[in-house]
Amino acid sequence: MARMRSLCFLAVVLAALGGCLGEEQDAQCPSSIAVRKRIDCHPQPGASQESCEARGCTWCSSDVPNAPWCFFPEDSPYGYARSGNPEQTDKGWRVTLNKRQAMSLFGNDISPIVFEVEFQTKDRLRFRLYDPNAQRFEVPLKIDGPGVTAEEANYEVEFSDDSTHFTIKRKSTGTVLWDSPLVDLFFSSQFLQITTTVPSTSVYGFGEHEHPTFKHNMNFVTYGMYARDQAPTSFANLYGVHPFYMCVEPDANAHGVLLLNSNAQGPALARAQQCAAEAECQCGRNTLLRAALTSSEYPSLQAIGRPHMPAYWALGFQLSRWGYNSLDVLNETVNRMKRYDIPYDVQHYDIDYMERRLDFTYDKVNFAGLPEFFKEMKKSGRHNVVILDPFIAKDEEPGTYRPYELGQEMGVWVNNSDGVTPAVGQAWPPGDCVFPDYSNPRTVEWWTQLCLEFKDVLDYDGIWIDMNEPSNFMRGQIPGCADTEINNPPFIPSITDRSLAEKTLCPDSKTYLGEHYNTHSLFGWSQTEPTFNVVQQATGKRPFVLSRSTFVGSGKHTAHWLGDNFSLWKDLRRSIIGIMEFNLFGIPYIGADICGFNYNTTYELCLRWMQLGSFYPFSRNHNSEGNIEQDPAVFGDEFAEISRATLRIRYSLLPYLYTLFYESHVHGGTVVRSLMHEFTSDPETHEIDTAFLWGSAFMIAPVLEEEARTVEVYFPDAQWFDYYTGRKVPSSWKKGYYTVYAPLDKIPLYIRGGYILPEQAPATTTTESRLNPFGLIIALDERGKASGSLFWDDGDSIDTIENENYFLAKYKFSKGHLKTEIVKDGYRGADTL
Ligand code: NOJ
Repeated sequence: MARMRSLCFLAVVLAALGGCLGEEQDAQCPSSIAVRKRIDCHPQPGASQESCEARGCTWCSSDVPNAPWCFFPEDSPYGYARSGNPEQTDKGWRVTLNKRQAMSLFGNDISPIVFEVEFQTKDRLRFRLYDPNAQRFEVPLKIDGPGVTAEEANYEVEFSDDSTHFTIKRKSTGTVLWDSPLVDLFFSSQFLQITTTVPSTSVYGFGEHEHPTFKHNMNFVTYGMYARDQAPTSFANLYGVHPFYMCVEPDANAHGVLLLNSNAQGPALARAQQCAAEAECQCGRNTLLRAALTSSEYPSLQAIGRPHMPAYWALGFQLSRWGYNSLDVLNETVNRMKRYDIPYDVQHYDIDYMERRLDFTYDKVNFAGLPEFFKEMKKSGRHNVVILDPFIAKDEEPGTYRPYELGQEMGVWVNNSDGVTPAVGQAWPPGDCVFPDYSNPRTVEWWTQLCLEFKDVLDYDGIWIDMNEPSNFMRGQIPGCADTEINNPPFIPSITDRSLAEKTLCPDSKTYLGEHYNTHSLFGWSQTEPTFNVVQQATGKRPFVLSRSTFVGSGKHTAHWLGDNFSLWKDLRRSIIGIMEFNLFGIPYIGADICGFNYNTTYELCLRWMQLGSFYPFSRNHNSEGNIEQDPAVFGDEFAEISRATLRIRYSLLPYLYTLFYESHVHGGTVVRSLMHEFTSDPETHEIDTAFLWGSAFMIAPVLEEEARTVEVYFPDAQWFDYYTGRKVPSSWKKGYYTVYAPLDKIPLYIRGGYILPEQAPATTTTESRLNPFGLIIALDERGKASGSLFWDDGDSIDTIENENYFLAKYKFSKGHLKTEIVKDGYRGADTL
């Protein structure tokens, strides 16, 4: 039993880029290991010299912030050694590793273990470290490829001559992308550790967190990951888990690494030298460790699944509020949106539409007439999205609450450690509640049936699945978690409260896929696909699902928002980092609550947020209970007019945005991207996270500070055009920061020369705008050339691409002529454009 589990830690050391200042040595330290190269030998809190030395490690203080004081000695007695020569396998080779000494950090070390390399495609290789003698939990995500020979692969994996390191090199450049010393490797029942050196400090990714910068800080920062109902707080583990990083190499090549593990885990990043870095990852007691190295883009997404194609209407502006509390208030809101003619396509219904917060009900007093309201919204060309929570009240009067009774009959709940009795916790509904185990096919049947039946009550177009970390307002279920090794492992990665049960269920709870210990962070992920399928079945249209908790590959079925942010300028700014990161994670349909969720917003913050949020792929204004109203029509004429004007820019560019989603769905890649992504060889762009791009061609440079009426914009090396005037940005601005004017009614926007962007006259809903005339923005580069494309279909049918019911044109402009190549002419509706 004990050998079934583990948690993990990854240390990444970012190596020198050349021209470094040399390694910092601590004068009073006997160790010859540079401070910044220290690998933490006491990752759990409470290190002392005594406890450190007792485990054979070196103790020495340091002034470097966050540097470990207890670290592995140079001649560490730990780790593994290679035994014998690699043996060929179908897609690569494997070799056995034996533990060097019986000493252990957290007990139950496993030896031998197997190190296996698979060359899945030319650009993707996977290595696995696993226990050959026990079946351990594996994330049920199949990442495979046809296989290529080692010669065909673009990477080379080798052991150093003395077998103390394994390294992965990019063949074309010789750059070492991965370098793991075997002495730092731990593989025990409850603790996995691997350290690696990466080739530069331009490292991005790991989530879900609120990161203060897009490019990571390397000062021994640990990024704990474990799904949690947690309002965004710097570095805290939030709702989803994405153990993926991307590193831009010194020569502007890039690679991505996915550490496919669903346990609590905590990569730590440190710089090995002044101008370089280092990372370290500790996973909780989980499974085996699988790492997949991909080419420049994990979001080529071949491995984890490409993002779904959103419906066209889902790219329209969306409104939400927890706390309308009555249909009258909602009606007033909608009416003032209409009065100001503010573009608006989707209305969300938060838990206050429910009767006493019970899933699959609606409040027939405060929301009397809701079904008719849905129909009215539809008639006006709008769409409705209802929230559902993953907890079902169990204490309702017998015979009155079918979702519970049917679920009970079908046996669909997450169980206690006995595997028989349902885990009981507390959340929104009155009394106690139980938690559907979506990894169980019976639960999927139950959920499907209820969602289909509910469609007859409220004619929804999409479902918002919230709180699915899963959240539980207690530490573990009733009566609390037993004091066992699975509930209280000897090591817990750096996650909030250092508890695996806080605000959720006990790790020893049982799901169909396995112990909650292993499946906790997969809960939202396992709810997403069934919800996508039932929305598709219920509506007969392209599904809309919005999930709070996500995992690797969730983008195939869901949108995401950045959770319960705050109405603060800091949160406005950091939302850009979040949307760029989720694009790296393969969830491009992403946004943050516009104007902020927690706290009261202010006029200016909300206005600037409406401007930025008009360019989130998922553009929704949402607010928490008890806060002042913040829809764009509530602040008076000036605010409404500015919001309307900015949203009309969004709506006019939706054909371009939709085409980007098509590209991402079919070929992978990002929709929103950082400047670094497009101008990788310009190091200045590596740190920029205050501006971003839609695709390659459209730069958004929002105002992010209170009272600011100018923005410092970096113009990478290209011809840029001011979106508003169509005028060229002076070529002397290239590769420099320039101050541009941004009065309250303006968000600076630029088009990159060399690109053609399809556009359409805007309207109040996409239902109407889709009937309007089309146009092309042709922005020429210095050679007078430009190119682009347009994808178009009916906007909401299922599988239009697979069924070839779409129109695709490629445009090229050169020597004063525009050439259109119709690549696909499968959508009759395109004839009238
Ligand atoms: C938490 C969600 O993050 C938030 O968006 C929602 O309003 C509340 N739950 C209430 O449902």
